Amino acid sequence: MKKVKLEVKNITKRFGDLLAVNNVSFEVYEGETFTLLGPSGCGKTTTLRIIAGLEKPDKGRVFIGGRDVTDVPPRERNVCLVFQEYAVFPHMTVYDNIAFGLKARKEPEELIARRVREVAELLGLTSVLNTKASKVGLSEKQRIALGRCLVVEPEILLLDEPLTLADAKIRETMRRELRRLQRELKITMIYVTHDQLEAMMLSDRIAVMNAGRLLQVGTPREIYEKPKNLFVAYFIGSPTINLIEGKLVRKDGKLVLEKEGLVLDATKLLEEAKGVGKIIGREIVIGIRPEDIQIDPSGHGVWKGEVELFEVSGDQLIVHIKLAEETKIRAMAPFSLRLRTGDIVGVAINPDKVHVFDRKTGERIDLLSIGEA
Ligand SMILES: Nc1ncnc2c1ncn2[C@@H]1O[C@H](COP(=O)(O)OP(=O)(O)O)[C@@H](O)[C@H]1O
Ligand SMILES: [Mg+2]
Repeated sequence: MKKVKLEVKNITKRFGDLLAVNNVSFEVYEGETFTLLGPSGCGKTTTLRIIAGLEKPDKGRVFIGGRDVTDVPPRERNVCLVFQEYAVFPHMTVYDNIAFGLKARKEPEELIARRVREVAELLGLTSVLNTKASKVGLSEKQRIALGRCLVVEPEILLLDEPLTLADAKIRETMRRELRRLQRELKITMIYVTHDQLEAMMLSDRIAVMNAGRLLQVGTPREIYEKPKNLFVAYFIGSPTINLIEGKLVRKDGKLVLEKEGLVLDATKLLEEAKGVGKIIGREIVIGIRPEDIQIDPSGHGVWKGEVELFEVSGDQLIVHIKLAEETKIRAMAPFSLRLRTGDIVGVAINPDKVHVFDRKTGERIDLLSIGEA
């Protein structure tokens, strides 16, 4: 059994008319990295500040290690928050910055010195301990802010978009370092980011938020493979998932998606799926990730289409294919695939990789779990 370290129960927070956090509940296990992921303004920081005790929820409770801390002041919660703008004192040395929390607690000098040195070692700051914080680089500042938290050994480390200000290369290194550190120290960490790739790389579990609501909690794999609704499907994955909408109908022995007079044959995608009978006549959205589509230059596959455009993405190509006037999809292809715009190609898709959503509610429809009577 995993031990629950933090429980957030039905948290609601308003700022005037704005519902910043709307009835959010989740649990974080001891030693895991749990990420709040969502677009800017969705309520991540507010949720984190409520956990830290810097903000009081209008409704709901927060439990840390089983204790109800909703009315406990921040400094008695034993959590530490690293902000987006690192609060580093520029005129103090790196040593004094890291030692800050322990000095405030009036810990003995030898203990402070030992802990600061341990943390500096861990974060690669030993060589700059006597340097003024204003003189070090961004990556060091980031680590100082982290060090100031680690040194007081909080029960939970809260990180609010700590990498957003760094450039791409530093982010990559810091991401790896954070993961290593978290594993090494087995800290319980709540990480906030709007960057889905970062969340996928760092997290044991992710909570996807939008407009104050928590939409789905799961491992990166669960969220990628079984998005609970259209928002999660679209937010996770790069390039974004292809979405094709229409009313699913049977026509001349075929299963087709109909929309404004346009018809797309979906027989090969859906006919084998158990439970498909239950969604006939319904407005649905089909989701297919670009990486789940294979291009067949000889024209075989579920559909045929015309190559419209390429984009280079690392060692892959993102190929835009026009299936019909209004229906275009993107597929990933190896760089070595020789294609030209205007080529007619086949599009092969494994039916198991097709996601189906209800168009009105946006909720995922699990065809296998519906089960045809
Ligand atoms: N102190 C505040 N007063 C008024 N509105 C706020 C305050 N803090 C946050 N908000 C609003 O609440 C919403 C959620 O904000 P926030 O939690 O910071 O989102 P995120 O961190 O996901 O970007 C936003 O619309 C934001 O403008
Ligand atoms: Mg924020």
